[in-house]
Amino acid sequence: MSDDLLTDAFTAVHHGAADGVWAAPGRVNLIGEHTDYNDGFVLPIALPHTARAAVRRREDGVLRLHSAQAGGGVVELAVDALAPGSVDGWAKYPAGVVWALREAGHPVGGADIHLDSDVPTGAGLSSSAALECVTALAFNDLWSLGLGPVDLGLLAQRAENVFVGVPCGAMDQLASTCCEADRAMFLDTRTLTARQLPVDLAAAGLRLLVIDTQVKHDLADGAYAERRAGCEKAAALLGLPALRDLALPELEAALATLPDDGLRALTRHVVTENARVEAAVEAMAGGDPAALGPILTAGHASLRDDFLVSCAETDLVVVEALAAGALGARMTGGGFGGSVIALVAEQDSDRVADAVTAAFAAAGLTAPRIFPALAAQGARRLA
Ligand code: GLA
Repeated sequence: MSDDLLTDAFTAVHHGAADGVWAAPGRVNLIGEHTDYNDGFVLPIALPHTARAAVRRREDGVLRLHSAQAGGGVVELAVDALAPGSVDGWAKYPAGVVWALREAGHPVGGADIHLDSDVPTGAGLSSSAALECVTALAFNDLWSLGLGPVDLGLLAQRAENVFVGVPCGAMDQLASTCCEADRAMFLDTRTLTARQLPVDLAAAGLRLLVIDTQVKHDLADGAYAERRAGCEKAAALLGLPALRDLALPELEAALATLPDDGLRALTRHVVTENARVEAAVEAMAGGDPAALGPILTAGHASLRDDFLVSCAETDLVVVEALAAGALGARMTGGGFGGSVIALVAEQDSDRVADAVTAAFAAAGLTAPRIFPALAAQGARRLA
């Protein structure tokens, strides 16, 4: 949708003109899954798909929220009354950011907001982080807060953790605020230092496909919190601040000291996954993106067999994509459905997509949504 259509839609809902238009993207993570809440490494790219917001400041402390995707008209909230758990549905994401900004002492007030997003929802592509980050950026500009992309991403994460109540790490929000076009962001989630690595898959004759299974299993939220608690318990038993502090050469000895009740497998995933991120960075920095393939596939096996967050549909995509010639494939995001990424040679791209689609049809599943992932720019002002 063009900026004009967005501002026209704003005017139709809120009357008068918006003060500006902002965009924040969804993301796919190349590798480094369930590492962010273990102080580890991640390697996301921002997608061209964005949440966009046309916003106008209000001086009366009222937040009037409208979404092109949700039916039901304007949601009206008093900023003074915002509290964790007080807002349901899509409105909790923008409202949570306003709450987090105010809680952090930033003097923001109300606003008229019209949101429109083409980030697929429930697909593990961070559609809610995009809504949060676009709100954070718009408020940062409209109230001249002077916050940078890392601070805005962390505030959006706080909104998600406390206001929405999801104990996520910082990857999704920081990817949305900090990623750069044509780059993958190698982020150390402990120090919050990032290295922006050029990704030019096309120059290497490669393509990254996102294959959205269109499946989201209900247990996702509870299972995420359980995995996180398990990782924290394992780190505590090992006497470490976080599993990030366990180095690969020490892994086997450390595992032997843990109870064999699932904590060993969680620990093995996190430690080997951090090593896979470092290997992926080396492959990319060394100009050999095809070498990412086996790293992705190993990551999937670890998420499936050790971290236990895959599911039949994502496993099916990985098996079929590899059988049809993909160089590597894995689930991306939190798991229990959502999307798979597959690294393919350009000439094999259609064959892989067709094979996965045919396998889904044969299994009686809704056709997956498949599109190439291009590394796009993080959150920005459009107008
Ligand atoms: C979800 C969370 C992220 C991260 C991933 C798994 O997307 O929001 O913080 O933990 O799962 O890597």
